[in-house]
This record gives sequence, structure tokens and C-alpha cells, in this order.
Amino acid sequence: MDICSGIDDIRAVVAGYRGAGRSVGLVPTMGALHDGHMALVSAAKGANDRVVATIFVNPTQFGEAADLEAYPRTQEADLAMLKDAGVDAVLLPTVEDIYPEGDETIVETTRLAGVFHGAVRPGHFRGVATVVAKLFNIAGPDRAYFGEKDYQQLAVIRRMARDLHFAVEVVGVPTVREADGLAMSSRNVRLSPEDRTAAPILNASLDAAEKTARPGTTAEELAETIRGVIATEPRATLKGLDIVRVGSFTPAAGPLTAPVGIMISAEFGDVLLIDQREITP
Ligand code: PAF
Repeated sequence: MDICSGIDDIRAVVAGYRGAGRSVGLVPTMGALHDGHMALVSAAKGANDRVVATIFVNPTQFGEAADLEAYPRTQEADLAMLKDAGVDAVLLPTVEDIYPEGDETIVETTRLAGVFHGAVRPGHFRGVATVVAKLFNIAGPDRAYFGEKDYQQLAVIRRMARDLHFAVEVVGVPTVREADGLAMSSRNVRLSPEDRTAAPILNASLDAAEKTARPGTTAEELAETIRGVIATEPRATLKGLDIVRVGSFTPAAGPLTAPVGIMISAEFGDVLLIDQREITP
């Protein structure tokens, strides 16, 4: 596995793949890798001749410095996992590599960045769209892989890639779950043992919504079902619940006639977890 610390290095490696006629899949990450990331790698390996991963804790997508500081950094273990999974090259850029001194260019999906999760995390999706656009330009992949768990992030990246005419296929990979249903996340390690036991309530609430949904069920009824299940778990504080039309990513209301995406976020102690489900009534 080639470990590239600079942008010129990864460009040379990818140019070698291209020269040999190989297709390239990109797996952008912020490190602290878990099986969810490995599912992205294995999807990339299944569809591309070469797989490039990036590990970069992107400062522009964090609201508070404390959050950025607290983000887990496990580089050695991450590199070992990527190597075992058969990744061909990894880029480990510095903040200065990605954001050269005096940089002033941003990428923003103007509507999508400010709604739902974006409304409570101002600037977050601008940071994501900007760094992903840069990584697409740096690595020049054929395909790039992102988890469906970050449902709005995936929508932002798809829209950004389409609007800016990137010749990159954005591929969403289904959420990987622990045996008890908790969606895998780098944040799960920060949960107390009690909160870790309580956290699968998110998935349980989505299961209940899925069971409730049939043609004619209203978006409001689905939301009620989810709120009811979350309310049975005193350790969970529901923070966000949005039901959107798949594709347009606009709020769903009234009787459901087409697939919807449910996005949910809840706090357990000081750890905010998110989960998601697409439901066809
Ligand atoms: O999902 C993530 O880990 C990050 O938001 C991403 C897509 C790597 C951009 O920093």
C-alpha cells in the first residue's frame, strides 16, 4: 500500500494507475475507521481496479474547536485496517495541503446545506462539499464511496458532483450495524456503557416506523411513531427528526405516495448520534 503524504505523490500514483488503464475508486474518510468504513472499501474494491483512501480530519466541517479536538485519531490502526482490506494507496494530507495559505474558495450546495441537519450545524455541509470537491480534484476517481448513514451528506455530495460536472459516480453504501442494531459510528466509542445499551433505540424507532408505513400512512404518523419509541428511553434526547422525499430532499407531508427518507438524531449524554432509513410505503 502506497502511503502518500502530499498531493503531488498521490497524483503520481493515480497517474500510474491511469497509464495502465486501471479504474480508480476513492474512499474519503476522517480516520477512526470501523466496519462501516470497511464496507465502503469493499464496495470500492468490487467495482474498481484500484482503491485510494484518504484520511483527513477536515477542520472546516466542525463547528466548535472542542469538537475537532475531541475527534478520535487512530492513524496507525487505520493504516493497518486499510492495508488488510487491500487498499492500494492512502493520502494523508495536512491542513495546509488541502487549504493552502490564503485560500478563499468554498463549495456550497446553497439550499441543501442549510436545511435539516444543516440548520443546526451552520457551515458543516459547506465544509463537507468543499473538502470532497478538493479530494475529487486531487484523486480524480471514477467512483467515490460514502455511507448512507450520513444521509444528508450523501445528498449534498451527489448534488455538488452533479452541479459541478465532476466525472465521478457517487456511490452510497448501506449502513453497517452492530448486532443490536446500533449504526456503526466513530462516535460510539464515546458513549458511556449505559448510553451504549440505550443507543439502539434509534434503530428500533426506525424499525417501528417501517412497520407502520403503508400507502396512505401520513408523514406525521410516522414521526409520531418514532417520537413514541424514543420517548420510552429516558437516556435519549431526540434532537432532530426529518422526513424527506427521496430525490428532491424536500420535506414530506400528508399521505405517503412515494419513498421517503427518515433522518433522526438524538443525544446520549454529550454524544450526538444519527441514523437514517429509506421507507417505501
Ligand atoms: O463522512 C466523513 O467521514 C466526512 O464527512 C468526509 C466525507 C470524509 C468529508 O470530510
